Formats: sequence, structure tokens, C-alpha cells
Amino acid sequence: MKDMPKIEEIKRIEQQATQNLSKISDIDKIDEWRIQYMGRNGQLTKVLRGLGQLEVDDRRIVGATANQVKTSLENEMEKHQLKLENYKINQQIHNDQIDVTLPGRPTTQGNMHPITKTIREISEVFIAMGFSVEEGPEIELAKYNFDMLNIPDNHPAKDMWDTLWIDTPSSKNKHSMCLRTHTSPMQARIMESNDPPIRVLVPGKAFRYEATDATHEWHFHQIEGLAIDKGITFANLKGTLFEFAKRMFGDNRQVRFRCDFFPFVEPGVDMSIDCFKCEGDGCKICSETGWIEILGAGMVHPAVLANVGYDAAKYTGFAFGMGVERICMLKHGIEDIRLFYSNDLRFLKQF
Ligand code: DAH
Repeated sequence: MKDMPKIEEIKRIEQQATQNLSKISDIDKIDEWRIQYMGRNGQLTKVLRGLGQLEVDDRRIVGATANQVKTSLENEMEKHQLKLENYKINQQIHNDQIDVTLPGRPTTQGNMHPITKTIREISEVFIAMGFSVEEGPEIELAKYNFDMLNIPDNHPAKDMWDTLWIDTPSSKNKHSMCLRTHTSPMQARIMESNDPPIRVLVPGKAFRYEATDATHEWHFHQIEGLAIDKGITFANLKGTLFEFAKRMFGDNRQVRFRCDFFPFVEPGVDMSIDCFKCEGDGCKICSETGWIEILGAGMVHPAVLANVGYDAAKYTGFAFGMGVERICMLKHGIEDIRLFYSNDLRFLKQF
């Protein structure tokens, strides 16, 4: 080690700096002290800057020492600062400059996320109609996400869902597990392990391999509904969902059902409500159509009933599924779905 003198210099600087720090009694002077030693042209900074001129081995040792000293001085500085601050506060209390009887500053309180709120609001409507609420796995077997729901492997209908697959090293078949693309797999799970009658609501996350934009998120929430019993008809489906629409979007709502295709229901429909903003005249929210589509539904397909071991001659039922973000956006006039997940308090605090 040729450069012992450098090390000695660093030690000297440290000693001097520590001594000077302990003499400071005015908190505002601490920064001057910092600049003197660790500022741009500070004594310690200069040593660090001169490292380039040393030989490689020395550079490593001297550099490490200088950095250690720098960290230690910074710690000392913080400690001293705290000490002076406490001292100052004590002095102020002592001189009665602080009135400790004044009320404290209010602590800010968080609030529920708009999606959580919407899920609860929707759930309450269905709970009032006798539904119970259940949750299910977000990582799902392809068996439940597709097969049990009458979506066979090579069927083009499978393309309706852009799937995020999970392939574990041990999984023999590729594509045996996925992030569920909808909450519908819970239909199969619930029927498989319960006998009718069933009236259940399943809120939860769903995931799709999709680019995000103002109306699409790769992760979002759905609420699934399922009712199975003897003698359930399409009229029950319409009545239940009409009631939901009114409670959620106002008493004067009209609903419209149109044919739609989902492999797990027959017949399948989508349900729209008349636009609550323009009441049917046409506006931005309803894309000038007067109608807003809010969910998909249908009578549970006999093949699905058979898959879970139900006697399709004895039992019938209906199912429905809706996007929570969409409902929340419609209700509150939110124009970009990404706002829900960007953690912007200015947005979140409004709910
Ligand atoms: N799972 C469907 C989707 O994500 C939505 C849906 C449609 C659910 C019809 C249902 C239903 O239960 O009956 O696109």
C-alpha cells in the first residue's frame, strides 16, 4: 500500500468533521458543514475525485475507506440534526410557543376502491333477491374455464377469450391451466359440488391477453350469476335482470334482450338498458343508439348441466355475467378504464 497518506488524510478529515459537527448548535448551520466536507468541492469529495490518479489496488482501498467515512458522516449529520430539532421543539414548548392543547392535524383516511364499491352495490341487489355470494380461484384449470362450459378444445368459440396460459414445467399437456378469462368457470365448480336449488353470485377478477386502451384492461372484474331449480324459465331470467337494472340504474329503466351466442347457454342473450343519460334520445354514453349493453346471459345449456351430473330433464336454470368496470364507468360517467388501476388519488378520492 503506497498510499497510506491518503488514508490518513481521510481519517483526519473525518476526525475534524465530527468534531466540528458536534460544535454546531444552530440547525441552519448544518448544511454549511455538509458542503464543507461533502459538497461539490468538499474536502472528502476532493479525495474521492482524486482516486483516478491512484494505482488500481490503492484506488479500491482508498475509495472504500472514503465511502465508508462519507456514509458515517451522513449518519452523524442526521443524528445531530434530529437532536437539534428535538431541542428546538423542547425550547418552544418551554417558552409556550407551542400550544399542546390545540387539536391535532387530521390524519387522512382511505376510502373504498370504486370497483369494490360497485361489486358490493351489485351484490346487495342480488342478495336481496335471495342470492348468496361466493368466490373462486383466479388461476383456473382449462377444464373449468372451457371444457365444462361446453367450449371444446378446437372449437372456434374458444377464440372468444384471449387466454393467458400457465404452463408449469410438470404439466404434461400444454394449456392445462390459465388465468381465468371469465367468472363463468365457477358455474361448473358450484354445480359440481352442490345440489339444486342454486342461487349464487360470483364476483371476481378475470384476465385476458389483450392490449389495453380506454375500454380494455388485461385484468378486470366480472360478476357471474347462476340460478338452478326445477321449472326455472326465461321469464325468471328476464324478471331478475330487469329488477337488477332498475335498482342499479333507476326505476324508469327499460331493458332490451337480443339474441347472442355463448357456448354455455341456450338461448343466449345480451341485455341492454335504455340510456339513463339521454333516456333513449342518443348521446355519447350510448353511442347515439339510445341503448347500453350491460351483460350477457342465457338459459344454462343442457350439455353444461350434463357435465356436472345434473338431470337436464329435471332441472333448468339461467346464468348471467357482467363486467364490473363497465357498470361502474357507466354509472359514474368514467371514460377511461385505465383510471381504475393507475393509483391516482385525485381519481380514487372521488368515490
Ligand atoms: N362469460 C361471458 C364473457 O366473459 C359472459 C357471460 C355471458 C356469462 C353469458 C354468462 C352468460 O353467465 O350466461 O364474455
